[in-house]
Amino acid sequence: SVLETADLKGIAQYIKSGKCKNISLMLGAGISTAAGIPDFRSEETGTSPVRRTFVNVYSLTNESRPSGLYANLARLNLPYPEAVFEINFFQNNPTPFYTLAHELYPGKFRPTLTHAFIRLLSERSLLRMCFTQNIDTLERRAGVPANKIIEAHGSFATQRCIKCKTPFDDTKMKEMVSRFSEDKVVPKCEKKGCKGLVKPDIVFFGEALPSAFGQAPRIIKTDTDLLIVIGTSLTVHPFASLAYICPDNVPRVLINIELVGDFGSGDEDVILLGKCDEVIQELCEELGWEEELLKLWEE
Ligand code: OAD
Repeated sequence: SVLETADLKGIAQYIKSGKCKNISLMLGAGISTAAGIPDFRSEETGTSPVRRTFVNVYSLTNESRPSGLYANLARLNLPYPEAVFEINFFQNNPTPFYTLAHELYPGKFRPTLTHAFIRLLSERSLLRMCFTQNIDTLERRAGVPANKIIEAHGSFATQRCIKCKTPFDDTKMKEMVSRFSEDKVVPKCEKKGCKGLVKPDIVFFGEALPSAFGQAPRIIKTDTDLLIVIGTSLTVHPFASLAYICPDNVPRVLINIELVGDFGSGDEDVILLGKCDEVIQELCEELGWEEELLKLWEE
């Protein structure tokens, strides 16, 4: 085994040994909850109203009476929560999606300590690739270079017409999303005669993943010395399958509130249960990187 001990200390030792040159990360909504962005599947209802309501957006069986965002969506006659991310529904009624986009639009949120850790890995030339399911662009905002990020479910960073695919202006989009709660005006394609609906380049249910995701299996299989999975329920494929194709001799680390996927099945697995910011801070203490981490986070 490349790890002396299958725990946090063992991981820190391996990273410091110089043998671990390429670290790949698999990230999910759990790394952004501390920024105030709700995740999708947590049962726990946090204190922030946005989080509570969004959890309800996704949870069909939740009995509680939500307020805020969900109430807005309910008023707009969403047949079921997932419809907000379905292209067919969007075509007929883009209002629920834009209501949500207004609430969750990047710019309102600050990167977390975990995002600062990604930047730190990149500055130390240890980051092979950061595969993220998040659409909040907080990895970029934390200063992680674009060529080290694969946004597997797209992002709010760009947008285009769903009919003719013509890109739509970023600044205009920002303005329209921020005004949406007041004027309810949905962005439409400006190409002559088109008038198709404009949608951020986030992957809706049933849509293909961005082509950049195609290189992911190779990177995980042949070019990764350590795989760290943080803040994801590992329930959405094909993304989740990356954790399963990781070679047996490559240690996998899970940093998550709960046990997910097939973690625990491999000898090389290290399971660090807890809030990711706390676990990351502990790992950085062990690495002697704590000061550097906090400095990057405060930037
Ligand atoms: P989920 O909401 O499914 O999972 C988030 C995971 O993070 C759960 O296992 C939580 O327990 C954990 N978690 C929450 N807060 C945490 C914290 N502070 N520290 C550590 N762990 C924490 O979110 P994803 O796995 O990202 O797809 O969801 C995957 C995809 O499902 C999303 O990308 C989205 C959705 O459909 C699209 O938008 C296409």
